[in-house]
Amino acid sequence: MSIIILGIESSCDDTSAAVIKDGVLLSSVIASQAVHESYGGVVPELASRAHQQNIVPVVHEALKRAGVAKEELSAVAFTRGPGLMGSLLVGVSFAKGFSRALGIPMIEVNHLQGHVLAHFIKEKDEEPHQPEFPFICLLVSGGNSQIIRVNAYNDMQVLGQTIDDAAGEAIDKCSKVMGLGYPGGPIIDRLARQGNPEAFAFSKPHIPGYDYSFSGLKTSFLYSLREWVKEDPDFVEHHKTDLAASLEKTIVDILMDKLRKVVKDTGIKEVAVAGGVSANNGLRNAFRTHAEKYGWNIFIPKFGYTTDNAAMIAITGYFKYQDKEFCPIDAPAYSRVTIK
Ligand code: KG4
Repeated sequence: MSIIILGIESSCDDTSAAVIKDGVLLSSVIASQAVHESYGGVVPELASRAHQQNIVPVVHEALKRAGVAKEELSAVAFTRGPGLMGSLLVGVSFAKGFSRALGIPMIEVNHLQGHVLAHFIKEKDEEPHQPEFPFICLLVSGGNSQIIRVNAYNDMQVLGQTIDDAAGEAIDKCSKVMGLGYPGGPIIDRLARQGNPEAFAFSKPHIPGYDYSFSGLKTSFLYSLREWVKEDPDFVEHHKTDLAASLEKTIVDILMDKLRKVVKDTGIKEVAVAGGVSANNGLRNAFRTHAEKYGWNIFIPKFGYTTDNAAMIAITGYFKYQDKEFCPIDAPAYSRVTIK
């Protein structure tokens, strides 16, 4: 019999639902929330309210596009955490109601595990290009920067992670102080393509081992900018492409330096990247350069699977379903957790 999983993702500011049948994606629907743009960041209370409005139509649309009736579902997989508590509660409560009403099991998914397993989403009529276990995954998003050794879909080991800010957070904050808008990642990415990455030099951290740090870079960026703006109030306007290119290059260099170290030490040349920041063109190019130079076998997700989406939750649910890894109806949401 076929295994049909409905995935639900509501950890931050995107409400998403997806349907996967026997490992193949049938539909994926995402409702993004524009309401936060004027605030320069996600406002948690507004996010939960928008999730409440979006969740029913988004699930309805995902089932409709998949051509699947809700009675055909084998299980409902949902993001249990980490994320914003109010946002998570909407998805978790919906999943509970749905599973209870349909008499099907619930599968909890760790959002970070979902990002890593996005590499296993298969689309119809598409040749699979999937990493073999064990592989190394650089997980870079607005809330996390981790290097993970993935031994199996349910066996992941964090080798290094940020001790303060995440890479995406640093990009977003620097973009905000330059007055460029939110979220900063795509804006910096676009501007960086037209700028000189060597125009400005920003400080790089010296952290032992495989851990990252981005708060020093953020602070030095803010202080330098303040001085430059004192001299020339239009400094950002005059130099925004060079600032973006230099900032992006510094962050990509920091990420790749540690990743290279891990690959060298573990000898694992199967290397993937995941999370919102993996949409960044500078980072994608750095992966390609490393593949050529060091013989890495690289895995870069499609743009649609870099940021938050329910397809990655559904595929994780599909794996867990096969091992009958279900969760009880009283499973609470959790706001903080890393991959163990
Ligand atoms: O994975 P994600 O959607 O959300 C979580 O944090 O879970 O990642 C969002 C982050 C934000 O910091 C955003 O600015 C960044 O990903 N981002 C990018 C790009 N697109 C999104 N950063 C750099 N370049 C991009 N093209």
